[in-house]
Amino acid sequence: MKKTILIIIILCILIIFFLLNKKKDDNPKLNIFENIPYYKNELLKEYEDYYQKTNYTIEKVVMDVNIGLNKPFYEGCKVSKYLNTNYILVNKYNYLDKNYVPNDLVILDKFSKPGIKLNKEAYENFIEMANDAKKNNLNLRIISAYRSYEYQEKLYNNYLKHDTKEKVDTYSARPGFSEHQTGLVIDIDNVRKDYNYFHLTDEYARMQNNAYKYGFILRYPLGKEKITGYKYESWHYRYVGKDISKYIYDNDITFEEYYYQFIDK
Ligand code: DAL
Ligand code: ZN
Repeated sequence: MKKTILIIIILCILIIFFLLNKKKDDNPKLNIFENIPYYKNELLKEYEDYYQKTNYTIEKVVMDVNIGLNKPFYEGCKVSKYLNTNYILVNKYNYLDKNYVPNDLVILDKFSKPGIKLNKEAYENFIEMANDAKKNNLNLRIISAYRSYEYQEKLYNNYLKHDTKEKVDTYSARPGFSEHQTGLVIDIDNVRKDYNYFHLTDEYARMQNNAYKYGFILRYPLGKEKITGYKYESWHYRYVGKDISKYIYDNDITFEEYYYQFIDK
C-alpha cells in the first residue's frame, strides 16, 4: 500500500514537472510587429530578420518588407494584382504578363504627340488639367503613355547599347516591369523644352501643386529613389484617381507606401 502511494506521488511530481516545462515552451515569443495596421502574418520571419539587420523602427521594417525592400530589386517578384483598376502597382517587385494589354485604352487626339494611347479616364482628367494649364498660358503635352511589353523591351535593350545594366536599371524599367504597360502613365513636356529639363519649366511648377487635383501623382520623386527604385523623373506621372492622389500629395508618400498601407493589406 505504502509503495503504491509513493509511486502515485512520484508520478504526480513527474506530471507537474512535465506540464510546467511544456508551458514554458509554449509561451510564444513577443510579436512586436503585429500591432502595425499593415502587418502581414506570413512575413513575420522576414520582419524579424530585417529588424535584426537594421536599426529601423518597427513601422519602417514592416513597410519595407511589405514593399520587398529587404531584398534587392527584381528579387522575390510577384505578378501584379488589381489589373485594369487604378489600384494596380507595377514596380521592381511586381510585374505584368507579356500579353497583358489594359482595357479602356483610347488614341489621343489632343495635347499629345501623334499615335499615343492612354486609359480613357486618365486622358479625360489630363485634358481637364491641360485646359486649365492653358488658361494660365502653360502647355502640357503627352510624349509617351501606354507602352506594350515588346516596345519596352526594345527601349530597354537599346539603352543597354550605351549604358551598363546597373545604370539602365536606374532610369528604365525592364520589360514587364514598366508602369507604362498599365496604360495609366504619362510622360509629358511643355512642347518647347526637352522632357529631361521639364523640372526647370513653369509647367512643372504648376504640376507640382496641381497634378493631384486631377488624379495624377509624380511617381518617381526626388529623394524617394530607395523606395521607387528609379532616379527622379519630373516628367512621369501616374493616374491613380483623385482620392488617392490627394492622400499621397498631403502625406508626401510614394505609391508603394500608399499601396501597402491601404490597398494590399
Ligand atoms: N522610365 C520608367 C521608369 C519606365 O521605363 O517605365
Ligand atoms: Zn515614364
